[in-house]
Amino acid sequence: MAALKKILVIHGPNLGLLGRREPAVYGTGTLRDINSLLKKAASKRNAGLSFMQSDYEGEIVERIGAAAGKFDGILINPAAYTHTSVAIRDAISAAGLPCVEVHLSNVYSREQFRHKSLISPVVRGTVSGFGANSYRLGLEALLDILQAE
Ligand code: DQA
Repeated sequence: MAALKKILVIHGPNLGLLGRREPAVYGTGTLRDINSLLKKAASKRNAGLSFMQSDYEGEIVERIGAAAGKFDGILINPAAYTHTSVAIRDAISAAGLPCVEVHLSNVYSREQFRHKSLISPVVRGTVSGFGANSYRLGLEALLDILQAE
């Protein structure tokens, strides 16, 4: 069997409020529900997941900065920082780890300011618009990349 792949899962600002936050946009599932879905998918693929949620840009930057050598890849929903954060983008570039960006909502069907991602150019790919399944599909894609390389 292939070696265990270690994935850092990062949830950005306001995602701790899932379940109560704008359910018409983000659904009624909680962050716990998403993490359980991911754990189930990871167990079938011999992957180990570490989860973090932060509302603070600097904390996310620090965790990405410390990821090289500890993790094989990063799955991230940068949330609002998607559209604003040069610091998170630079951290992902510097880490040099395969990274997949996910969004619960279809950001392209929403306000114009959500159409621009500063993160997308430095990740392997983006999954947007499938609710919690965006995370699951993003994880599968990331594991496929790690398996192939
Ligand atoms: C989001 C989309 C972002 O535009 C927004 O700021 C979020 C969540 C999503 O998962 O759909 O907080 O990343």
